[in-house]
Amino acid sequence: MMTRKTALSLLMGASFLMSGTATTVMAADGAALAKDKCESCHGENGNSEKKVPSIAGFSAPYFIQTMEDYTDGERTGEKFKTEGEDETDMNAIAKALSADDLKALGDYFAAQTFVPRIQEVDAALVKKGKRIFRKCKKCHTDEGANPEDDASILSGQFMPYLETQIKQFVSKDRKSHSRKMLKKLKKLDDEDISAVVNYLASPK
Ligand code: HEC
Ligand code: HEC
Repeated sequence: MMTRKTALSLLMGASFLMSGTATTVMAADGAALAKDKCESCHGENGNSEKKVPSIAGFSAPYFIQTMEDYTDGERTGEKFKTEGEDETDMNAIAKALSADDLKALGDYFAAQTFVPRIQEVDAALVKKGKRIFRKCKKCHTDEGANPEDDASILSGQFMPYLETQIKQFVSKDRKSHSRKMLKKLKKLDDEDISAVVNYLASPK
């Protein structure tokens, strides 16, 4: 015969299992969300072939911070239209996601591999940019390829995007979380910016 204690623990076990199942069913599925809501612009697994940045391999903390910056309006995303869909921007896209969605998407993209884009670069600018990038290495390690910096992945990123972001930091249209970076970016003229962008896009 079952003792009261066993019956109780069995019951508790059953409800624990049930709530466990319920959480699994309700938890956001990062891969499915990415396919449904991000792939049309950011490409399969977050490696974009469009005029938008790639986001594959970003660290989850940088990803979440960035999405929160779009939600709070600290960053204004450029409007973008993909074939067969309405024009939208990252602020509207980020606002429509729950905290659970963000966590699932952050984990999903962090587990993908960033594929550097093949882009045409100017050899003289690459050389100049490599020198300028010495000022950036403290925070952007592995020549800007290390997601663990929690400062995006710069190496192999879409060139026009990199250029726009640097100019937006300087004009304060995008708020930087790093005052030290801003001090360094402010010293760059247009050719320096172009050089550093060419360097970042060059194969390493
Ligand atoms: C309609 C096209 C479009 C869709 C759909 C889209 N994005 Fe974006 N995304 C962009 C564009 C354009 C940018 C560059 C925005 C800017 O100017 O800041 C961007 C930028 C980003 C960035 C910042 C990248 C960086 O280097 O800091 C992240 C993160 C991001 N998107 C995540 C997502 C996620 C997650 C989804 C799906 C839930 C998504 N995006 C859906 C177009 C899109
Ligand atoms: C003191 C640390 C630090 C230094 C030095 C630094 N950065 Fe950054 N950088 C960051 C952080 C942190 C971010 C994440 C974005 C933010 O600040 O909101 C970032 C983001 C960026 C981005 C935006 C990436 C994206 O995907 O949107 C670019 C481009 C960039 N840095 C370029 C540079 C360049 C070029 C230099 C050197 C001239 C440099 N940074 C020096 C810390 C630094």
